[in-house]
Amino acid sequence: MSDKIFFITTAIDYTNAPPHIGHAYEKVLADVLARWHRERGRSVFFLTGVDQHGQKVQQSAEKVGLTPAKFAEEVTKSFKALWAKLGISYDGWAETTDPRHIRAVQDVLQQLHDQGDLYRAKHSGYYSIRQEQFLTDKERNEEGEFGPEWGEVVLLEEENWYFRLTKYRGWLAEYLADHPDFVTPAFRGAELANAVAKEAGDLCISRPKSRLGWGIELPFDRDYVTYVWFDALMNYATFAGYRAEADAALPAFDTLWPCDAHVIGKDILVPAHGIYWPIMLKASGVKAMPKLLVHGWWNLGGAKVSKSSGNVVDPAVLAERYGTDALRYYLMRDIATGQDADFNEERLRVRYNADLANNLGNLVNRTVSMARRYREGILISSAAEKSSDIATLEALGAEVARRFDDAMRTYQVHTALEAVWDLTVAANAFVESSAPWKLAKDTAQSARLDEVLRALVEASRLAAALLHPIIPEAADRLLAQLGFSGNLSIAWGVAGAEHRVGEPVPVFPRLENPTSV
Ligand code: MSP
Repeated sequence: MSDKIFFITTAIDYTNAPPHIGHAYEKVLADVLARWHRERGRSVFFLTGVDQHGQKVQQSAEKVGLTPAKFAEEVTKSFKALWAKLGISYDGWAETTDPRHIRAVQDVLQQLHDQGDLYRAKHSGYYSIRQEQFLTDKERNEEGEFGPEWGEVVLLEEENWYFRLTKYRGWLAEYLADHPDFVTPAFRGAELANAVAKEAGDLCISRPKSRLGWGIELPFDRDYVTYVWFDALMNYATFAGYRAEADAALPAFDTLWPCDAHVIGKDILVPAHGIYWPIMLKASGVKAMPKLLVHGWWNLGGAKVSKSSGNVVDPAVLAERYGTDALRYYLMRDIATGQDADFNEERLRVRYNADLANNLGNLVNRTVSMARRYREGILISSAAEKSSDIATLEALGAEVARRFDDAMRTYQVHTALEAVWDLTVAANAFVESSAPWKLAKDTAQSARLDEVLRALVEASRLAAALLHPIIPEAADRLLAQLGFSGNLSIAWGVAGAEHRVGEPVPVFPRLENPTSV
């Protein structure tokens, strides 16, 4: 592994409304990847935060009689509280109203202006208030109308500042062709390449202050603020120290850049992250491009998660009801990275009971209880030769650890989890086949009993250590009960010659009625 700090970021969440399950999924995914890298010994910088400017924030604030600043501040608090509850271990926090960010964005804008990449022009046309952009005929649906996804559409004539995207389009097309790893998964990269081939026109990067005051002022034209996306995208660089005064507590920009994984949803690849962002970087002189990891969406009964469904799938309520780690587990287990999935609380409950309570929880509980019952909690290593069933379990452990890391390297957390459950299922089966309760009755089998219990402790420990990035608190408790507090080794054979287990306390108590809330 290289010395470069693994730099992972997520989209910064828009502060026009409180968080929902989709936001929680993205942050948990990035957190799991960040923790996994850290646990394998790599330095990580994990940046997330909030997108506080723009028209929707101004409008939402007006509706409730608050200033946009106050409104954004309140919604920011709800995001921060949720991330604390969900154990999101970020190192850097981006807030776009931060003066350091504002200065850096203005600095970049001034440079683009000075090098002739910005121009002022008049445009009249249809404008979507919801999406904060002018629409073209390309955005019309089959009926020739602007569909409901554009919200209120008004006719607007306005003079604005434009960024010469067209000047860099050829470069971007070539870059994409030469760097197939720019976007993961590959099918999203293909979508982007198609969009780049079709995309025409420059990007309007200003909004007149007469109708939007809530943004970063253009340094060369005081009558305008910066388009919210231009401001928001810059966060990935400015909060990593780019053109902003470095925060003494954080690593320097050149040790972080380029970003190894921009974790974003499929809706914001084209055009924002796939077109505007690399062109913004290129134009401002940053040569190395980040890598984008594009995830799918959680839907609700096939439909989009919306504000009105927020209360049904409020992540804070779910974490309260089932525990943070049960929610994290479900969000990582029931979706394949890159694909969509349907959120279903009943499935969460069924998975909780089947996977966490009956399988993993039960394995650890039985293992610790038997070690205490038959060996007073102390397992001594025996000189006996390893029996073949234990050698098989050990080989499976090594294979599962390998499969787990391979899957994590390619962001397939659900596949990594499947591997762990192959181990816990095999270990539970081994409890039945080795029947320690029978061995305990036969003094001639004493060494075999030691061996069996130690193998179960190793298998359980390995499962808990592998699961640590996904269910950190629960895994810590499982490891403590197994007598391995703080030991995240994923090798087999960690127990000392005389190993003492802890107290068995159910970490995932069974839900009595899994099919109803
Ligand atoms: N503020 C912009 C991003 C700016 S990044 C420079 C934004 N914010 S958002 O709050 O609308 O979305 C934040 C992230 O949550 C996006 O990556 C988006 O794809 C993701 N999700 C929003 N709803 C989602 C689901 N229902 N499911 C999964 N992720 C979803 O876009």
